[in-house]
Amino acid sequence: MTEQTLFIVKPDAVARNLTGEIIARFERKGFKLVKLKLFSFSKEQAEKFYGVHKDKPFFGELTSFITSGPVVVAIIEGNNAIATTRIMIGATKSFEAAPGSIRGDFGLGFTDNIIHASDSQESFDHESRVAFE
Ligand code: CMP
Repeated sequence: MTEQTLFIVKPDAVARNLTGEIIARFERKGFKLVKLKLFSFSKEQAEKFYGVHKDKPFFGELTSFITSGPVVVAIIEGNNAIATTRIMIGATKSFEAAPGSIRGDFGLGFTDNIIHASDSQESFDHESRVAFE
């Protein structure tokens, strides 16, 4: 089923010049780019984007990291986009992510874990609204 999803190349990956490599993986997989933007999250926008985590102990760390430098946000489209993208990015803790996944190949961090991707249609709707507002 053709659907859309969103991913964010996080500040650590943009700073390490991994943006092209990461986007290329999704293109090679067969996804089409629908929207693409380089920008910096404001604090308010980051708190809205990650609103689902607002009561978690790591919320401050998470919002301060995501606002620490420019990010690249993309919307891509293709078969089973949400679930397939989650497989491609790998486990949240980069140091446990499988080799071959994006986090598994490029990172060791947890908060600084290279990439974010929507985990459901509801998250995609919310995140794309906030990131492209
Ligand atoms: P992401 O996929 O962007 O979704 C929420 C982010 O919160 C997650 O990746 C991690 O970077 C971060 N995160 C989740 N749990 C923790 C935690 N226990 N401590 C620090 N950061 C976390």
